[in-house]
Amino acid sequence: MQTRTLGRNGPQVSALGLGCMGMSAFYGGRESDAESIAVIHHALDAGVNFLDTADMYGPHTNEVLVGRAIAGRRDEVFLATKFGIRLDPDDPHARGVDGRPEYVAAACEASLRRLDVETIDLYYQHRVDPQVPIEDTVGAMARLVEQGKVRHLGLSEASAETLRRAHAVHPITALQSEYSLWSRDPETDGTLDACRELGIGFVPYSPLGRGFLTGAIRSPDDFEPDDYRRHSPRFQGENFARNLALVEQVRALAQDRGVAPGQLALAWVLAQGEDLVPIPGTKRIRYLDENLGALDVRLTRDELDRIDAIFPPDAAAGTRYTREQMGMVNR
Ligand SMILES: NC(=O)c1ccc[n+]([C@@H]2O[C@H](COP(=O)([O-])OP(=O)(O)OC[C@H]3O[C@@H](n4cnc5c(N)ncnc54)[C@H](OP(=O)(O)O)[C@@H]3O)[C@@H](O)[C@H]2O)c1
Repeated sequence: MQTRTLGRNGPQVSALGLGCMGMSAFYGGRESDAESIAVIHHALDAGVNFLDTADMYGPHTNEVLVGRAIAGRRDEVFLATKFGIRLDPDDPHARGVDGRPEYVAAACEASLRRLDVETIDLYYQHRVDPQVPIEDTVGAMARLVEQGKVRHLGLSEASAETLRRAHAVHPITALQSEYSLWSRDPETDGTLDACRELGIGFVPYSPLGRGFLTGAIRSPDDFEPDDYRRHSPRFQGENFARNLALVEQVRALAQDRGVAPGQLALAWVLAQGEDLVPIPGTKRIRYLDENLGALDVRLTRDELDRIDAIFPPDAAAGTRYTREQMGMVNR
């Protein structure tokens, strides 16, 4: 397995991680836990050691699932989880953000218990809390490091300014934000530059565009009734049709190259720098193997230029989140 260093002088992780979210939430068609555990075991057997979960996936059940999967194999895993998005038990669409120090401590205890581990390798704040100074939240996270409950700290969807302030309190090992051919904000909002300046690793989430860039999603009607993507602007109406036309061009390029469209999309992310470690998500062994194949796809400068010509930074139709969810992104 190819490896990459997460952040300057940071830990070595597999060059692709595995996003476990979809095994328990958001993308419909949940497989049985046994099948999901088989996917995680297959990933570990292939040398993928970087697993990504969060307390709010499920909610809470994804951490339990990952914990069961890694029982007995803890030393093979670099385990990342997140805290800070609170769900309303009475309203599945309501979200709150909590970065208060007392909540950080309690959330970590709960994640350790659900994961059934003594230490979390990388603990991310899932969304920055605008009501709590980042110094206070990261100060509480730093205490978890002192206590041996957490090894490395990360933030998700944090701005460059927040990253700088956080990093001044305690070294930040990784920023996890959405980044793919159709989600290019980190190139222009200063976060990728700030990561490079500060020596923070960058973990692109949804690197397959929530599955869209694989070309496998043909119509919004294919989604199950509870699939999150039904509510996502990019997957609706005219936006869907315009985005599909872009993906068809990616498919044609992939066909010329003899690879799958999703492999081309992942290879493009991997080619953006050795400091990026994407975490594609899947609940199927077949997809996992295909995605790992992207590690062998080396794109030439000419191919990267052709992909960029199809997918310039603002090509995607529709925002990546609803207005309300964009409001939770720290800018
Ligand atoms: N920090 C954050 O706020 C945040 C937000 C979103 C996600 N994440 C993390 O990032 C991880 C990855 O992101 P994501 O799961 O949202 O999106 P993604 O990796 O871009 O795409 C996942 C989707 O693509 C499908 N897929 C995967 N490989 C495929 C292949 N080879 N061919 C066809 N379809 C394929 C999956 O289908 P199946 O499910 O059927 O396998 C799933 O529906 C998540 O698991 C989660 O851990 C973090």
